[in-house]
Amino acid sequence: MTLIPAPSRCAPGQGLFTFTAATPLTADPVLARAAAWLRHALTSATGLPLLEGPGGVEIRHTVGLGPEEYRLTATTESVLIEASAQAGAFYGAQTLRQLLDPAAFRAGRTGDRTWSIPAIEIADAPTYGWRGCLIDVARHFLPKNDLLRYIDLLAAHKLNVLHLHLTDDQGWRLEIRKYPKLTEVGAWRRESPLGARRHRLFDGRPHGGFYSQDDIREIVSYAADRSVTVLPEIDLPGHTQAAIAAYPELGNLDVPLGVRTEWGVGENVINVSDETIAFFTDVLDEVLELFPGEYICVGGDETPKTQWNESLPAKERMRELGLRDADELQTWLMRHFTDYLLARGRKPLGWDELLEGGLPPGLTVGAWRGDRCTSMAARAGHDVVVSPFAETYLDFRQAEGDQEPVPIGSVTSLRAVHAFDPVPHGLTGQERSRILGAQAALWTEHIDSPRLLDYMAFPRLAAFAEAMWSDERDFEDFLVRLAVHEKRLDALGVEYRPATGPHPWQRRPDAPGHPRTRAEIDSELADWTSNLRP
Ligand code: ACM
Repeated sequence: MTLIPAPSRCAPGQGLFTFTAATPLTADPVLARAAAWLRHALTSATGLPLLEGPGGVEIRHTVGLGPEEYRLTATTESVLIEASAQAGAFYGAQTLRQLLDPAAFRAGRTGDRTWSIPAIEIADAPTYGWRGCLIDVARHFLPKNDLLRYIDLLAAHKLNVLHLHLTDDQGWRLEIRKYPKLTEVGAWRRESPLGARRHRLFDGRPHGGFYSQDDIREIVSYAADRSVTVLPEIDLPGHTQAAIAAYPELGNLDVPLGVRTEWGVGENVINVSDETIAFFTDVLDEVLELFPGEYICVGGDETPKTQWNESLPAKERMRELGLRDADELQTWLMRHFTDYLLARGRKPLGWDELLEGGLPPGLTVGAWRGDRCTSMAARAGHDVVVSPFAETYLDFRQAEGDQEPVPIGSVTSLRAVHAFDPVPHGLTGQERSRILGAQAALWTEHIDSPRLLDYMAFPRLAAFAEAMWSDERDFEDFLVRLAVHEKRLDALGVEYRPATGPHPWQRRPDAPGHPRTRAEIDSELADWTSNLRP
């Protein structure tokens, strides 16, 4: 079998089930959404009508299975997908498409062929409930249609969370009705760095774009039809220079700022006034309207405290609240937003730097700085979504050598991503149960086009999906299946990295990188987390 991710259990049978123009497709009404997706995907690629009717392919509601679990039984006579919920039925439908020829992944027909799948029995369910991918649409905007395509790609790999990093120093990408300048001013910048910061090269070319509120409604609904939840991130209190450029009263300085045109951690953070808190509460109100998912990410990462330590109002706040330092001030500020979300029945997600001033109650922690942060958050009784940067940040280079486009970070190989285990050693059973799952991350400082996004994401995202889904993992076997999976990616038009290295047109000699060793990355991490009290 060539399925990716590998199913939990799979027993091949005898013979083939062959689709004909007379093969019907039917589903229990509660699973109609999965059936609609399957019919649309397969009729586009095959031309088979798959009309409604008994026999043929059946999607059946079956109690007793988990919400993402499914069973697929194909004989020479029929195909049965059983599930208790839309998600499981959808994953069964995705598996059925993988059992067909890779041409089933095309959006149109390429000629006459016989469409058949092997007789087989599959029983399948994911290891982790949170199987996410972050896309940074702030550093480089991903146009709506490309984002919809990514939702299809996540869904094809049975990933179920799209974390949209919507705001940062270099761009604000979400229309907010009450504060139109966030996108009028904040959604574009004058130019961008070309390659890593140290080279001080700039492209001299404006960059921008944003999602209207109707775009977001469309994206959220398109994702829901594919069992993907869109998790929005409004990054606070750092990474806010685009917002401050639009509304200078949000900042700490008297001088106006532009939308940032450099990468790296910026000094400009929002101030801690009541008016600023009210402003971002209004923003969250519109975010809550647009994104129905349980989780909302409020950021909390990489917040330099320089401006607060020099600001009279911030120092006055600390004194009046009896706070020890600016880290505690950050936690105090973030509690306004996390409590606000909790009071509205949502779950706040925030990055692990919030450990420094104390985790706000009820916060789910996005642990990106390694096992130590993951363990600390879990031991403190918080749920954790794991995304360690040296293992799951897919903007890090895929191989050694100067052929890789804009090589940054250490090497995050396909093999390492496939072997990734989100649970650190040494946790108790209860602590382990707080690890909800993991996210891969596509930060886009150096990923300036959908084509390069494909190159960085694939095939590593397929390996990540298997790491999250499959309990038993065999890399050599994955490689055998990947050879077929690449034909599926070809059919989908995904410009993945070839195993032999980039095509000439995938290289970026114009944008030099900054490759580092794993030892350098590990020592940087030790530095960053040295102030965490155990
Ligand atoms: C992060 O990488 N700053 C979450």
